[in-house]
Amino acid sequence: MSNKKVRVKKPTGKLGILLPGMGAVATTFIAGVYAVNEGLSTPIGSLTQMGRMRIGKRTKVNKPLIKDVAPIHDLKKVVFGGWDIYKDNVYEAAVNAQVLEPSLLEKLKTPLSKIKPMKAVFDKNYVKKLDGKNVKRGKTKMLLAKALMRDIKSFKETNKCSRLVMVWCGSTEIYIKESKVHKTIEAFEAGLESNHKDIPPSMIYAYAAIKMGIPYANGAPNLSCDIPALVALAKETGTPIAGKDFKTGQTLMKTILAPGLKSRALGIEGWFSTNILGNRDGEVLDDPDNFKTKEVSKLGVLEQILEPSVHPELYANLYHKVRINYYPPRGDAKEGWDNIDIRGWLNYPMQIKIDFLCRDSILAAPIVLDLALFLDLAKRGGMSGIQEWLGFYLKSPQAKKGLHPEHDIFKQLAKLENTLRYLSGEELINHLGLDYYEE
Ligand SMILES: NC(=O)c1ccc[n+]([C@@H]2O[C@H](COP(=O)([O-])OP(=O)(O)OC[C@H]3O[C@@H](n4cnc5c(N)ncnc54)[C@H](O)[C@@H]3O)[C@@H](O)[C@H]2O)c1
Repeated sequence: MSNKKVRVKKPTGKLGILLPGMGAVATTFIAGVYAVNEGLSTPIGSLTQMGRMRIGKRTKVNKPLIKDVAPIHDLKKVVFGGWDIYKDNVYEAAVNAQVLEPSLLEKLKTPLSKIKPMKAVFDKNYVKKLDGKNVKRGKTKMLLAKALMRDIKSFKETNKCSRLVMVWCGSTEIYIKESKVHKTIEAFEAGLESNHKDIPPSMIYAYAAIKMGIPYANGAPNLSCDIPALVALAKETGTPIAGKDFKTGQTLMKTILAPGLKSRALGIEGWFSTNILGNRDGEVLDDPDNFKTKEVSKLGVLEQILEPSVHPELYANLYHKVRINYYPPRGDAKEGWDNIDIRGWLNYPMQIKIDFLCRDSILAAPIVLDLALFLDLAKRGGMSGIQEWLGFYLKSPQAKKGLHPEHDIFKQLAKLENTLRYLSGEELINHLGLDYYEE
């Protein structure tokens, strides 16, 4: 099917990328973009910068860079802004995060030092382990949302941006279940006025962005934009949204490995995942209420991929456990262990062990970039509401009501590539028999 009719506005002018939360991930992302733009390094892990995709028939080998096909905004024309509860500028915050080499940060000190976080909308009740002074005061959550909207407007004017996107890189908030106040825009706005306890700061940022038609992605597992009220608002204001929780270390491995084991009809009896990490994120997740949010996000993956109800003989007894242990000596250099108990021919047991010595923020930074640039592309392409094709980047992808999110990374990639072909006016590829586009 050819799609020459789709109209995507050209990415002219400057794109402002707004980041609530300017800690390890956000600063590694910003410093990385500067390093790439100055020719100091390479944007490995980013599909918008390095990914290629097939265009046209298999008989003609044509695999151009995605950015040469899809009208993606130029990386050289982006500016950054954000909020944090600490006053440190991006250079200082990046030094504190200890992810990137001091020698690299030194070379980027001038532009990074100029980016200073705006005062945050923060409430300690939702992130008990943190306490910072760079925080807005306001009598109601609605007034705080309006203050954020003023920040956004003034950032756009000062930096002469033609468009903005927002990616939540703030800490994981405590576990909150969807409740009545999240159901409709009216209930939600009334909740903002009455300081409803089920509206944490991440929802206030999401509301401010979506209300202004600014694409919003949520990199943490808290609900944020994943509630009916904000999904409806996104439709109303023509805003693309995507959430939740960047898919980086162990869950990335899971969504790569589990579809492969299932494709060969191998049984899985147990999957035990544990890891140690010592960054600020690890410290926040050391609180059981905040860990619960992360745990729920991580646990959904296997169930959806393996479908135990469809394959009870292979997966009905699967025992899935996820642990995160705060261990300061490791900082951002997380180590994740997986023990997978599998079953083969005649029910014989086997084991797989994974020891992934990864770097959390190094894996997350290209995701922030791709989400920002793809959401901006979606907006220019007239797409709004939940962008399921961006589930590729997320641990707990937001899906339309009544639909299960897709976790299999290969199916997610097929959907992402076809959406990009669609937005580029290229022919879709359906690999005969794959029907990811039928909803
Ligand atoms: N790094 C990864 O691999 C990865 C993967 C998935 C999800 N995440 C999530 O991404 C988020 C960021 O991770 P990180 O490693 O950068 O954490 P971090 O602790 O280094 O940074 C988070 C920053 O958010 C700030 N913050 C907290 N609440 C805020 C608020 N209401 N407004 C503004 N700022 C606020 C904190 O002060 C902190 O500086 C976390 O929620 C984490 O769970 C990270």
